[in-house]
Amino acid sequence: MPKAAITATGHYVPPDVYPNAWFEQRLDTTDAWIRSRTGIAERRFASEGGASDLALPAARRCLEMRGIEAAALDCIIVATMTPDRPIPSTAAILQAKLGAINAWGFDLAGACSGFVYALVTATKLVEGGAARRVLVCGADRMSSVVDPTDRATAVLFGDGAGVVLVEMSEDDEVGVFEHVCHMDGEGATALYVPAGGSLIPADAESVAQRRHFVVQDGATVFRAAVVGMAEVIAELLKRADLTLEDVAWMVPHQANRRIIEAVARRLGLPLERVVINLDRYGNTVAATIPLCLSEWHDDGRLAYGDRIVLAAFGAGFTSGAVYLRWAIGA
Ligand code: ACO
Repeated sequence: MPKAAITATGHYVPPDVYPNAWFEQRLDTTDAWIRSRTGIAERRFASEGGASDLALPAARRCLEMRGIEAAALDCIIVATMTPDRPIPSTAAILQAKLGAINAWGFDLAGACSGFVYALVTATKLVEGGAARRVLVCGADRMSSVVDPTDRATAVLFGDGAGVVLVEMSEDDEVGVFEHVCHMDGEGATALYVPAGGSLIPADAESVAQRRHFVVQDGATVFRAAVVGMAEVIAELLKRADLTLEDVAWMVPHQANRRIIEAVARRLGLPLERVVINLDRYGNTVAATIPLCLSEWHDDGRLAYGDRIVLAAFGAGFTSGAVYLRWAIGA
């Protein structure tokens, strides 16, 4: 069966590095606590610009890898929880900055599962014939929504973007084979931003009460993420009639090293086959998975035909997993 595939990648992180020691000087925390409880050593924060400015260099690298102009794109999806503005969409802003004059597009709000949701959507648009080339971006400037005075969240996140191009594969043996997506809205209050939407619009009081920052029940999210990610991967493997022995790389959402290790342990997957870069970037939300793919590809660690499982879990709760065979580098 002809299928859609990822045919190019790109990523971008801002240049300014914030090691754990930076927080030691500002919050009641230590490098040792952050490393041992999260696995994060440093992250990048953008000094200016919005999600579109993170996505732009990543998108340019992606198009360059494929050797096509922006005008060859016919759809742009930006998965983000930190859009430049409520309107217009970050996809529209990125379209103008790229000069992708023939592309329509939209933002997708799936938090940490946003990239997986967007990849699945792009795959179906391409396979259904509604689009030929879809640029799928995961981009978040988390430093714009995380309370710098809250040690429980400030240390977890970073800013970054990852982008992939989705189009029909010329080889039926590679591409996106299977996916599973779920949502459990009962988890909504475990991880959320209280104000700034239509329910509680921004006003002087909401700002004074610091209600525009991410609030989370870390322990609840941690438990739900381990169970949710392991379940969605198990369901995917079953649906794709795959065993873990077949899988070259598992690319989990990068929230916490202990979450990733617990998921790998539950599944019986050796950590050598799990992609981890959150030690350097923290949790970049919608960007984590494409950032991993792009970085691993650039480092020559992904081979044509490799069986890869992507898995995400995030606010909502949302979760999703994708099974694909790597289609770059034939
Ligand atoms: N430095 C020092 N102490 C801290 C810090 C910090 N940066 N942050 C929290 N603590 C304290 C807490 O206040 C608490 O103190 P208390 O017992 O006096 O109240 C203590 O550490 C233990 O807190 P726990 O929540 O039990 O610590 P835990 O080991 O669970 O780690 C963490 C906390 C890292 C937030 C963890 O719960 C977690 O990673 N949860 C998942 C959250 C997440 O990744 N969310 C991202 C979005 S969702 C997703 O991507 C899947």
